[in-house]
Amino acid sequence: MNDVYESFKEQVRAQADIVKVVSEYVALKKKGGRYWGCCPFHGEKTPSFTVTPGKNLFHCFGCHVGGDVFNFVMKIENVSFPEAIKILANKYGIPIPEKQKTEQEILREKNSKQIFDANALAVKFFQACLLKTEYGKNALEYLSKRGIDADIIERFSLGLAAPGYHTLCNALERRGVSAELLAKAGLAVKRDDGSVYDRFRERIMIPIKDARGRVVGFTGRVVGKGEPKYLNTGETELFTKRSILFGMDVAFKPAKERKQIIVVEGHMDAISLHAAGIDWTVASMGTAFTEQHANLIARVVPEVVFSFDSDEAGLKAAMDAIPIALKAGLEVKVLVVPKGKDPDEFIRNEGTDAFKNLIAQAASGMDFQIERTLEKNNFSTLEGKVKTVSNILPFLLECKSDIEVVRRIRNLAQKLTIDENLIVDEFKKIRRGNGIAVSDALMRRKKEENKVNPVEQAERHLLFALINGGGNVTSDFLAEIDDISFCDVRRTEIYQKFIELSARKSPNIVADLFAELSEVCASELEVILQLDLSVNAASQILNDCIRQLKISGLEKQYEYHCRLASEYERAGDEKFLQELAESQRIKNEIKKMF
Ligand code: UTP
Ligand code: MN
Repeated sequence: MNDVYESFKEQVRAQADIVKVVSEYVALKKKGGRYWGCCPFHGEKTPSFTVTPGKNLFHCFGCHVGGDVFNFVMKIENVSFPEAIKILANKYGIPIPEKQKTEQEILREKNSKQIFDANALAVKFFQACLLKTEYGKNALEYLSKRGIDADIIERFSLGLAAPGYHTLCNALERRGVSAELLAKAGLAVKRDDGSVYDRFRERIMIPIKDARGRVVGFTGRVVGKGEPKYLNTGETELFTKRSILFGMDVAFKPAKERKQIIVVEGHMDAISLHAAGIDWTVASMGTAFTEQHANLIARVVPEVVFSFDSDEAGLKAAMDAIPIALKAGLEVKVLVVPKGKDPDEFIRNEGTDAFKNLIAQAASGMDFQIERTLEKNNFSTLEGKVKTVSNILPFLLECKSDIEVVRRIRNLAQKLTIDENLIVDEFKKIRRGNGIAVSDALMRRKKEENKVNPVEQAERHLLFALINGGGNVTSDFLAEIDDISFCDVRRTEIYQKFIELSARKSPNIVADLFAELSEVCASELEVILQLDLSVNAASQILNDCIRQLKISGLEKQYEYHCRLASEYERAGDEKFLQELAESQRIKNEIKKMF
């Protein structure tokens, strides 16, 4: 954030007296240093909602919402942070500054633009190779056999990387693209001596575009058979599989109209479905479906249909994707193609109408979860039944009504031949564990808390223990925490601020933290300080957290080196042995931690 913006924000904060602002929505009464009222965010008759004017914070002891004046406006008006500032600025007549870009932002944009431009030139070149050369004929024939005609080639800007190690490099360097840039864009590979050669050779080139249609990278498929089948641009600044859905640029409009999006695994699945008229389809490009994918979709449509490969890996991918999509607030359906390995094969063999029927009959996410769990469990024995029930009941927490819960439990009881009431009792326990049925707001909040992942929890516990632990706990473990990084920027900021304040020997760290942290961090700090943990156990908590964080850090490294190893292996590079050894070493380290 730049200075102009920061000072504008602080000016608004200074003017927007939290008691005055809140009073417009809630009747407040002064008691001690605080103001009290009935919480506007959850139904209640006795006041547990407080405003502390000195700290400029609000907090509800009932439903645990809290934060500063900006958070309050965001929540009560259901608006984003910038909108909240705007509302308050308008109310207090503070002029809104024009947004200025930082030098860093300008540099980053320039850098991205260069890559986009180089990629766009490459697309043109690849297209010409496919459509206008002798050696393009073979590739065109291959595409045509897969049902991909001129119209789809054009829609997806498909092309061909020519044979030879310098065809693209030479062509683009002639157009003023430096070797450096070619390497940065992932189109060329740099040798140790600084020279470069084409990364993609004799491959059908599929440009990967972001939702705005800008080419962020490429994947190249061998023409016919060969290894590796697909070669991708290495992950660059612009191309991260986790955050890009292939085909979003062309699927966006049709999806919006249909209020639904279909997610497949492979690029070719997506292209093939588009070719057959199912043009509201995107592909996760062979990676696991991520939270970022889900949020991207949730901004466009209310419903996602997963149509992964019908093998074990595809079914598992669907199981993993469902909760992620649900968390993003999406309706979820799962479509399993009955004949053939993947949607591409199915639609080419059975046709568009058959696929449309599959969409219409797609199971709800929950039906799929339940069916698959039933298939995977043996429930002929009593133990088997108990296990099956306990695997399935958590899914039912997503039911929209009690009627649905009852209906599903009845079905389950019949399938497993157990007394329905036993399942109901079990479900009540799970619900209570999730805090449901106390009040609506509380229910939602508790559920969110339970979805907190172990790393997130460890990070929060760690900060709780640090902040509550006093001086010696802190210094003891600072040496340890050195190589731990938080996975959340808010907690990073809280941590850094805390270290800074400890170094300054601040007498009241909590108050200073609230005063100096940005609003998002302050509300995260609220959550942390409200954790139900014992202050006395601080040092034990710290040790547990450090261990948990170390383990998950190592696990991440392990996955990273495994991935590298298999990429090198695919590319026939001997470096994969090194990566394999490294991943083994990390695995041993992880083992030692248990
Ligand atoms: P598949 O092996 O199922 O390929 O990999 P596919 O989609 O059916 O491809 P076609 O029909 O044979 O052309 C699924 C996805 O995994 C990624 C690709 O995104 C692919 O679409 N993948 C697969 C790679 O990135 N590299 C590979 O070598 C193989
Ligand atoms: Mn396929």
